[in-house]
Amino acid sequence: MSIELLTRPTREPLRPGPAQLREVRKALEDRFDEERLLVNADRRQAYAQDWSSAGRHMPDLVVKAESTADVQAVLAAATEHQVPVTPRGLGTGKAGGALPIYGGIVLSMERMNRIEGIEVADMQVTAGPGTVTGDLMRAVEEQGLFYPPDPNSFDICSIGGNVACNAGGPRALKYGTTKNYVRALQVVLPTGKLVQLGQRTAKSSTGYRVADLIVGSEGTLGIITQVTMRLIPRPDAVETALVSFANAVRASEALTAVIAAGIVPRTLELLDHHALDAVRAKTPGRFPDDAGAVIILETDGRTAKQAFEDLERAADVCTAHGALDVLLAQDEAQRKRIWEPRRVLSVTLRETAPRKISEDIVVPRSQIPTMLAAVSRIGEQRRVRVAAYGHAGDGNLHVNVLFDDSSTERADAAVRDVICETVRLGGTISGEHGIGLLKRDFLPLEQSEDLMGVQRALKATLDPHHILNPGKVLPPGVSAP
Ligand code: LAC
Ligand code: ZN
Repeated sequence: MSIELLTRPTREPLRPGPAQLREVRKALEDRFDEERLLVNADRRQAYAQDWSSAGRHMPDLVVKAESTADVQAVLAAATEHQVPVTPRGLGTGKAGGALPIYGGIVLSMERMNRIEGIEVADMQVTAGPGTVTGDLMRAVEEQGLFYPPDPNSFDICSIGGNVACNAGGPRALKYGTTKNYVRALQVVLPTGKLVQLGQRTAKSSTGYRVADLIVGSEGTLGIITQVTMRLIPRPDAVETALVSFANAVRASEALTAVIAAGIVPRTLELLDHHALDAVRAKTPGRFPDDAGAVIILETDGRTAKQAFEDLERAADVCTAHGALDVLLAQDEAQRKRIWEPRRVLSVTLRETAPRKISEDIVVPRSQIPTMLAAVSRIGEQRRVRVAAYGHAGDGNLHVNVLFDDSSTERADAAVRDVICETVRLGGTISGEHGIGLLKRDFLPLEQSEDLMGVQRALKATLDPHHILNPGKVLPPGVSAP
């Protein structure tokens, strides 16, 4: 295939027809019993949606893999019968990446959930992709080690899904995102070939960094069947404070000043007044009633003294930049009372309106005050409620447009305004959730045709039949070559 053909827009795949589905089902029935090959609609239902607002998309078949060989067998059968395969971790994705929009097979990794080894001296953990991230965190912490990336859904999401989306979380401010912890991946390519990517060593400069290409590829280039993640020593001392401000712009100016002063807390999480209203309605008394915005400021270190000193310095900067109040958590129970409503904020906000569109934009940190002012202006102009919260210390905001069916057009316009402003400020349209289905049509706003062409060429090289998670990440284009 010539480069010109490879870089043409991805063709829109077709749904598999009844004969293809019959054949592929026959092939799969030889290997999988009815516990692991779901054919009845009532059992497939649970795999038709995820945690995004992208609706229901029913798979024709669901397979629960238990081994790498299972994944290879499914891809071999799917290639032979040209049936799309959509890999799925635990279904907590926010961008619709695990939805089988063309039907076909959903390949669930939920049963590949074993922690295979924690190597203390090598400071790494090896696990199946379906391992719950929180289980992995707790297991390594028992050994004195620490896995820092902490998507708020860590108790229900999977490590394989985190790698596939390059997930983040509050602690990314100090420790970086999932990509900073990937050492080695075992991956089945769409053609069924098994490759070992990266190295189970602290360093490697051997060849192209193909493992990095899989990180954040959202199941479009290969299926991760094992991960080896780097760990760090467990920081035992943690201090948490709740800092109140008059409004979100003031709060963001303060957090920008904290970073500029050379202090790197482990979290600087912002909640604006819409987010606070939602928390107050659901769990009164958690956050100060008079605050128009709050920051959850958390520091950590090897010693209590170190963590406390950093917290004090950061709190002083906040006070000098307009903080109304600083409340220090006195114990683990008080820390939990602060974090609990934050961890479930996405769900809490969803309960406040019939519909919600959730974004995870990032702007350069210095632009956060400008972005928050823009968010508030866009809400007023488009006459929809637009809440902003999240990992503001990273410049990463969850902008949530909340609306009902009578204001769909205004809500869509508000989302587009937010995306355009993000790009104008030198930002990126996804910081941690990925592009999936929901953001793919916005990709051309951020990336050039040439860059999308490079990605199409990579996709076509690894997945020549376009059977792996079709229709995700890259916007669909004109007809096939
Ligand atoms: C959060 C998820 C939505 O930070 O990323 O709450
Ligand atoms: Zn987040």
